[in-house]
Amino acid sequence: MINQTAIQKAKDHFGQLLENQMLRMEKIKSAPDWIDYGRVSPIKIGILPGDGIGPYIATEAERVLRFMLEDELKKGKLYIATIEGLTIENRAAHNKAIPDDVLEEIKKFHVTLKGPTTTPRKGDPWPNIESCNVALRKELDLFANVRPVRVPKQGIDWIFFRENTEDLYALGPYGIDVDEDISIDFKLITGPGSERICRLAFEHARKNKKNRITCVTKANVVKTTDGRFLENFYRLAKEYPEIQADDWYIDIMTAKLVDEKRRREFQVFVLPNLYGDILTDEAAEFQGGVGTAGSANIGKQYAMFEAIHGSAPRMVREGRAQYADPASMIRAAAMLIGHIGFEEKATQLEMALDICGQYEKKLVITGRPTGVTGKEFTDYLLDWLKNPKLRETWQSYVNS
Ligand code: IPM
Ligand code: MG
Repeated sequence: MINQTAIQKAKDHFGQLLENQMLRMEKIKSAPDWIDYGRVSPIKIGILPGDGIGPYIATEAERVLRFMLEDELKKGKLYIATIEGLTIENRAAHNKAIPDDVLEEIKKFHVTLKGPTTTPRKGDPWPNIESCNVALRKELDLFANVRPVRVPKQGIDWIFFRENTEDLYALGPYGIDVDEDISIDFKLITGPGSERICRLAFEHARKNKKNRITCVTKANVVKTTDGRFLENFYRLAKEYPEIQADDWYIDIMTAKLVDEKRRREFQVFVLPNLYGDILTDEAAEFQGGVGTAGSANIGKQYAMFEAIHGSAPRMVREGRAQYADPASMIRAAAMLIGHIGFEEKATQLEMALDICGQYEKKLVITGRPTGVTGKEFTDYLLDWLKNPKLRETWQSYVNS
């Protein structure tokens, strides 16, 4: 027996989703262009400490941020403040991914630096609310998730442009249990959504003199949505004839990333949301794990910078939160500094992170009392940032 009532209910639900997406398309098409930080004063930077180990590593990241931007802060060109309320307790109490007053506060800041936040799932003690990362990306239209991975010793210098507002994530909380047997989620890819992420990736490649860009999909199977993404990629590629454009399927791409000979050839990647989520975790592993990677969520008006790992509630339960590695969030801080126009300072911070985390390694973080605390590591990093031989030392490590 076909349950026509269930089908009708699902159709109505789907109709509503489509209406919302059509409105979203209108918004994207009429959205204001890129903000020019050179003309903004003061630039407002908000700190969102997050959950679990978040507040511990956020404290260290803020210390580094204040050190790097000391002069600008003194001159009143910048302003840094903590934004309260984006905690799992408060989100659960409001039963919302981002409580309204917190979102309103976040929108007062141009850029934010965010600690990891707990994402509940079915069966957790928390209500099954949407991930606040995902909600923030949608609310602020942060369509590009930019994740660099560098392992100079192995010749790896990659940058991933992960689409951040569409794909299976866009309607992640809005799937339907049609009847007692059938569940459906929706994968969404749009022309304007694919175009703007591909454009950003191509522009990055051009600006940074990269001569190769790789699009990753599963367009042989997921024909309509991934097909559209890929079509946009190759259409734009014609405008950048100096850059070699190619595409790979996600399965073989994950394999090629462990091929030590071939993987050095890749430079810039552009890909839909879920593939980007998975591939960037794999890539970060070569650099020392997700704890070492930072991530930029960029939109035309706002930007949010975060660690790519979770809130590690177990570390907190076991009393080890002070041993959490702040490097990921400090890398995110470096990206923030570069994004608002201080590229030279961002480079210095990255060099210090490389020296402390990958080369000299005088102090090592293990996440346990067998290693140093996040605070001790940050002191070590700050010592290098104050050292006039920073650049020279970094260069000699890279060359050796
Ligand atoms: C990431 C994370 C998030 C994502 C989670 C926490 C929702 O894994 O930023 O990569 O899937 O995007
Ligand atoms: Mg992820």
